[in-house]
Amino acid sequence: MTRLIFLGPPGAGKGTQAKTLADFLHIPHISTGDILRQAIQDQTPLGRKAKSYMDQGELVPDQLVQDLVEERLKQPDTQNGWILDGFPRKVTQAEFLQELLKTIGQSGEKVINLDAPDEIVVTRLLGRGRADDTEEVIRRRLEVYRNDTAPLINYYGDRHQLIPVNGDQSPEEVTAALKKIVNP
Ligand code: AP5
Repeated sequence: MTRLIFLGPPGAGKGTQAKTLADFLHIPHISTGDILRQAIQDQTPLGRKAKSYMDQGELVPDQLVQDLVEERLKQPDTQNGWILDGFPRKVTQAEFLQELLKTIGQSGEKVINLDAPDEIVVTRLLGRGRADDTEEVIRRRLEVYRNDTAPLINYYGDRHQLIPVNGDQSPEEVTAALKKIVNP
């Protein structure tokens, strides 16, 4: 049973690796960023509320993402494990997740801290060119990461759940490191 949370700055490779590993393990890859982008494309009420925050590289309000994560983790396909990518992103969201997992009887989640230097991730994201991949918005996303998300490294470190992985290597090397962790 694998329950993994991917933590790391924008561009560290969370989405790339979470998807590969989820396919390998036949478990769902739950990306809050992907779900929000789909909601924007579908012009749902959630998408309309999230768009201006995402365009500016700000976090969307906790309640919006917490509701969507709760709904998603209660789906039957999560019974054999899951990979959460992009959630939690703040200590308040981590506390919410802890309570939620207790309520739905799930435990044993590990946290992969996939890290890479700022200049590497900026170059990668500028090369990708998503709507929020302009230099200004990338810098803001990195700032938000440092202020709001990086404290989760200590939060999960203190709980002995954190596993560091070097994101500054080829995608194949990162995948190999992750497979060793989930399939030692
Ligand atoms: P989200 O979609 O989660 O974006 P992010 O965290 O900024 O992460 P990215 O997708 O940019 O990077 P990644 O680490 O997944 O890297 P990737 O594999 O894509 O969030 C977007 C927005 O949604 C947020 O700003 C916020 O507004 C909102 N949001 C989402 N969750 C939220 C939450 N919980 N609370 C509040 N708001 C939330 O790779 C990036 C590029 O690098 C790709 O081109 C890839 O091909 C390349 N690459 C990957 N790995 C390598 C490698 N090893 N070597 C070379 N290139 C590589």
